[in-house]
Amino acid sequence: MGIDYKERIPNNVDLGTDRRLQRALEHWQPRFLDWWKDLGPEGFQTSDVYLRTATSVDAKGWATFGQVKMPDYRWGIFLADREQDRTVGFGDNMGKSAWQEVPGEFRAALRNIIVTQGDTEPASVEQQRLLGQTCPSLYDLRNLFQVNVEEGRHLWAMVYLLHAYFGRDGREEAEELLHRHSGDEDNPRILGTFNEPIDDWLSFFMFTYFTDRDGKFQLKCLAESGFDPLARTCQFMLTEEAHHMFVGETGIARIVKRALQVMKETGTDDPEALQKAGIIDLGLLQRYINFWFSSCLDLFGSESSSNAATYFATGIKGRPDEFMFEDHLCTETSETLVVPGDGMTVTDLEVPTRNAMNEIVRQAYVKDCMIGLTRWNRLIKKAGFDIELSLPSTRFRRNIGPWAGMPVDPKGNRISEEEYAAGGPHWLPTEADRAYVKSLMVSVKEPGKMAGWIAPPDRGINNLGIDYEYVVLH
Ligand SMILES: [Fe+2]
Ligand SMILES: [Fe+2]
Repeated sequence: MGIDYKERIPNNVDLGTDRRLQRALEHWQPRFLDWWKDLGPEGFQTSDVYLRTATSVDAKGWATFGQVKMPDYRWGIFLADREQDRTVGFGDNMGKSAWQEVPGEFRAALRNIIVTQGDTEPASVEQQRLLGQTCPSLYDLRNLFQVNVEEGRHLWAMVYLLHAYFGRDGREEAEELLHRHSGDEDNPRILGTFNEPIDDWLSFFMFTYFTDRDGKFQLKCLAESGFDPLARTCQFMLTEEAHHMFVGETGIARIVKRALQVMKETGTDDPEALQKAGIIDLGLLQRYINFWFSSCLDLFGSESSSNAATYFATGIKGRPDEFMFEDHLCTETSETLVVPGDGMTVTDLEVPTRNAMNEIVRQAYVKDCMIGLTRWNRLIKKAGFDIELSLPSTRFRRNIGPWAGMPVDPKGNRISEEEYAAGGPHWLPTEADRAYVKSLMVSVKEPGKMAGWIAPPDRGINNLGIDYEYVVLH
């Protein structure tokens, strides 16, 4: 169904036929705009940004490009088309009609899931609000803003569900989504990682590669939900989300490319020499990968979880690409987890498959994370260097699950507290690393020019040149 842009709130859910809901959302809209102006990208609100806006949810029309001032972006409500006679695809309710209204017994659980997902969307905009001031190019600045406006739209997606299906407490939760703020001492965002500022571009690319990919997997699980409006919302969010991970993957690839270029020119891979040349060396990049990957693993929750089992059993939350699995009930099977044993040993633990759902999703995430690693390593190999970037073990630096707080090296071996403390500066970004990365952050705002630490992209946006003026500053 096409999107109605004549409405104050663009939508493809026939909002005009439900006056009450329309009024409630029109009441929320100015509050959202106030939030955007206060806590969205600092500066640039009057700049013209080359953004894509969805005009329909099908392949043809979902990405229409044009110069837009960010506060004029048409945030709206877009659900994927409804599938006729859709049924719940897994768990104890498998085969029953998908729910078009919230079943009373799952109301609290569904509301929690939607609020938690909704909270991360504006949180990331808040975390990234100062980045524009140190953009490595106008191309990157535009990509940052595209990500930001779409995270704003994802907030709309969740707020619509709260307003449309959860009555008064839904409306209250929607208000709260604008009241909590990333890093706020009294009223922080729900998940810990979403309260840390992202104030350098290496962290931004790591965030869009690793954290947005966590988001992708959460959305993929919710796109299977028996609650049909949630499933359809998440399906469409996934199309937008793909671009965010593209920004991360290509951003890191361009950092690798630039490092390789200077390594070739100077004939050295000595980190100190490369830092003198203003480059992010591959060792530093590895430490950032270790940090970001391990923090994101915790977002999937504990390896064995009764909550996860309940979500699956009830049909609220499935596995990514549920259709790829043969068994959609998972009542008779188990999974083997590797957990800490006595002394320094590891041991196997059998848990019912339903309880291992978090771990199953985490493993799918790890596999997906490897795609970029493989591409970056190919660049390194092609340039003739014998260095390989890798993902640390899923046991490394965990704060949730059986490995929480356990001293483990990046390969997954159990080690002593002393060895862990000694290894830290080799495995994770040091204060000096962070200060160095910060020192590289200078703003480059001339069309086509790039900061010295990053290579230009292979191509521009929507077939435009790299030197196109993606953001017209005024
Ligand atoms: Fe999002
Ligand atoms: Fe995202």
